[in-house]
Amino acid sequence: MQKRENFGSRFAVIMAMAGSAIGLGNIWRFPYMVGEGGGAAFIIIYLISTLVLSMPIFFSESIIGRSAQSGTIGAMEQLAPGSKWKWLGYITIISPLILVSYYSVVGGWSFEFMLKAFGLDFNGGSPDDVKLMFGNFISRDWAPLICHTIFIGLTCLIVLAGVRKGIEAFSKLTMPVLFILIVLIMFYSVSLPGSAEGLQYMLKPDFSKIDGRCITSAMGQSFFSLSLGVGTILTYSSFVKKDEDLLGSGLGTAFFDLIFAMLAGFAVMPAVFAAGIEPGAGPGLIFETLPYVFAKMGTGAPVLSAIAAILFFVAVFVAALTSSISMVQVGVSYLMEQKGLSKGKSVAVIFLGTWTLGVLCSLSFGRLGSFHILGCSIFDFCDKLVSNYLMAIGGLFFTLFVGWKMDPRKVREEFTGNGSRRINGIIYPTVRFLIRWVAPLGIIVIFLSNLFL
Ligand code: PFF
Repeated sequence: MQKRENFGSRFAVIMAMAGSAIGLGNIWRFPYMVGEGGGAAFIIIYLISTLVLSMPIFFSESIIGRSAQSGTIGAMEQLAPGSKWKWLGYITIISPLILVSYYSVVGGWSFEFMLKAFGLDFNGGSPDDVKLMFGNFISRDWAPLICHTIFIGLTCLIVLAGVRKGIEAFSKLTMPVLFILIVLIMFYSVSLPGSAEGLQYMLKPDFSKIDGRCITSAMGQSFFSLSLGVGTILTYSSFVKKDEDLLGSGLGTAFFDLIFAMLAGFAVMPAVFAAGIEPGAGPGLIFETLPYVFAKMGTGAPVLSAIAAILFFVAVFVAALTSSISMVQVGVSYLMEQKGLSKGKSVAVIFLGTWTLGVLCSLSFGRLGSFHILGCSIFDFCDKLVSNYLMAIGGLFFTLFVGWKMDPRKVREEFTGNGSRRINGIIYPTVRFLIRWVAPLGIIVIFLSNLFL
């Protein structure tokens, strides 16, 4: 039996989990959702749903993973042997692998744009031409495929290097750097003429915009952003030492994820407004409008705008990479633990599977553009399937499992680091209530509204 790896310290756990949580979801999705959902009002709802909905799911996944010391399927087999709960394991193996396949395509775009930034491609061209770069790039046959291959290849190499030498070392190094980068870009963005409107957009609540849909999307964003419902947090928690308290690492991760989302919002939105661009552009917001912003600003301050462009796309690339390694690790843990494959073979199998699906997703912006599943392109289908349905199903059943199926004594022991951590008397009953009642009901609401809205 191979000795199970673990993270070296509390800091390492938080950096690795924050590495998974902080990604494309924070940089392009959060600012755009805030804009659509009524600015500060959306942020308030997002905060509440993170506290009452996402944190219980986070703790549930942590409790299951650390208690079983195993990935998703192994955990279900161990904690509920011979039961139907094994299916939860299967679902949460499949979701992150579908997710990483299309996430890697976007990661590949960020790689290309990082190279473009280093090549000073956004400087010197007319801003309108620069804006077209993205559309031209994603519809090409080979370039996006090569970038996707590099991205998923790098992801797999880091996972191959192992939990300590790969994930832990990479996250510990890159996460603090990432924070510094995003803060610098934020200052640059806020200093642009015309950025004040963007700041207002982020800060001034418009409560009239709050409706069921806004609440649903705030909850969904919180889910996606904290990597919940797909077994990632569960798998990472299986590498957390037994005496570590799960409350601290959970709150730490959520705190960093939230701060990063806010910083990214303040880095992106003022720049978008400064350039007079429509904020609701989704993925295009960073890949179309920011190069446009950099090009436009480059005419006045070429050196500054070149540096800002480089910093920005390095940040996007690194953030996407620390998220994608967490998704690949779920599948690798499964193959190693349940199928007895070596780490090298496990990584190779996951690479081939996710690379292939990623190729189809990438081609859906070009050659396979007319191929549709249930009215969606392959890319959109995978995205909708995971973020609208599989994450909600996973999150729901994780909380039900911990709240209603697991031995309450074990849950308590696990949460308090086997009793080694003193946790304030009111905290545990509150968390338990949230896990048993509030979170499952909340998720059912998200799920049903996604299904019927
Ligand atoms: N939380 C990541 C982001 O915000 O980009 C996305 C993600 C990573 C979702 C890992 C799910 C996951 F398992």
